[in-house]
Amino acid sequence: MVKPNELAEIELGVVGLGLMGSSIVVALLIAGHPVRGVAPISSDMVDAELRIIKQLKHAEESGLLNQPIAHYVSRLMLSEDFGILRDCKLVQECVVERAEIKGLMYRKIAEASEGKAIISSNTSAIPISVLQERAPDPARFLGIHWAEPAYLTRFLEITKGAKTAEEPAQWVFELAHFWDKEPTFLQKDIRGFVTNRLMYAVYREAFHLIETKEATVEDVDKSFRYDAGSWITAMGLMKRMDLLGLADFRVALNRLFPALSNSAEVPELMRQMVEREARGIQNARGLYTYTKQEAEEWEKAFAAFNKEIYKLAAEHLSAGTK
Ligand SMILES: NC(=O)c1ccc[n+]([C@@H]2O[C@H](COP(=O)([O-])OP(=O)(O)OC[C@H]3O[C@@H](n4cnc5c(N)ncnc54)[C@H](O)[C@@H]3O)[C@@H](O)[C@H]2O)c1
Repeated sequence: MVKPNELAEIELGVVGLGLMGSSIVVALLIAGHPVRGVAPISSDMVDAELRIIKQLKHAEESGLLNQPIAHYVSRLMLSEDFGILRDCKLVQECVVERAEIKGLMYRKIAEASEGKAIISSNTSAIPISVLQERAPDPARFLGIHWAEPAYLTRFLEITKGAKTAEEPAQWVFELAHFWDKEPTFLQKDIRGFVTNRLMYAVYREAFHLIETKEATVEDVDKSFRYDAGSWITAMGLMKRMDLLGLADFRVALNRLFPALSNSAEVPELMRQMVEREARGIQNARGLYTYTKQEAEEWEKAFAAFNKEIYKLAAEHLSAGTK
């Protein structure tokens, strides 16, 4: 059983200090852990520290810190040397979505910690049972899937692979409750975990409506923002049905399921966008068009929104709608 006063003693590692790796570092520092961050490629060392400090400032502005930023920085060690992971109880891998590169990381982590560290992956799409075959000790390997920004979202999916032992997975699940998350615990490794399966079902239907010209990109976004967006953080999907009445839903499911797309193809629109090297907000060319300034404004607006929704969810959870 993990106790809150033990967190300061539980050293954790993160390998890969890109977008998500650095925000996971921040989440773990805020939770009270000493954190060791390993840069598997030299360019990480150029940007990681500044990015982490910027994220700590964002966390501070969002009211998440109860110590000065310098306190958290003093509990962080960054290096290209895997040797700093020696005493870590858990090491989170967060490198590019390529199984052979992830596998190389697992061997280096296991060697540095002499096999003692539990290893987890933040993979979005590679099955945990596949990745764990590349880990020296598959029983002590599992998925911990975060959402960006890791320090400002309550989402966390913990997934056992076919060979993950119960005891390390339970320990991680208990520990994750001290990270201010609402973790889910998947006993079985299902493709896309829960969140991606739900969201990709919605993406498929959205593309279907756009490609058949039944709705525009703007229509799809407006519907999702102002319908689902007005209740989804408060109650999720299943409680929503309880609140609205199940009989009506039975009628709607019966009518609508046969009308929905069940295509297994990548939508043509998405294929074209990628072929034209549209990278969305990153190069101001996407499903919408943006000026460079608009793209930057969107990034800022989203950071502010994250802060607000995090607080709002906390207020409603404490009001008993959990
Ligand atoms: N970005 C998200 O919102 C998000 C959400 C959930 C899960 N993930 C998953 O997290 C992981 C990392 O994603 P990210 O968004 O932080 O990516 P990123 O591109 O920002 O960072 C990738 C990191 O991978 C490492 N890397 C790159 N090339 C490497 C090499 N040849 N050898 C070793 N390491 C190398 C580096 O540390 C680099 O910073 C991926 O598995 C991704 O699927 C991302």
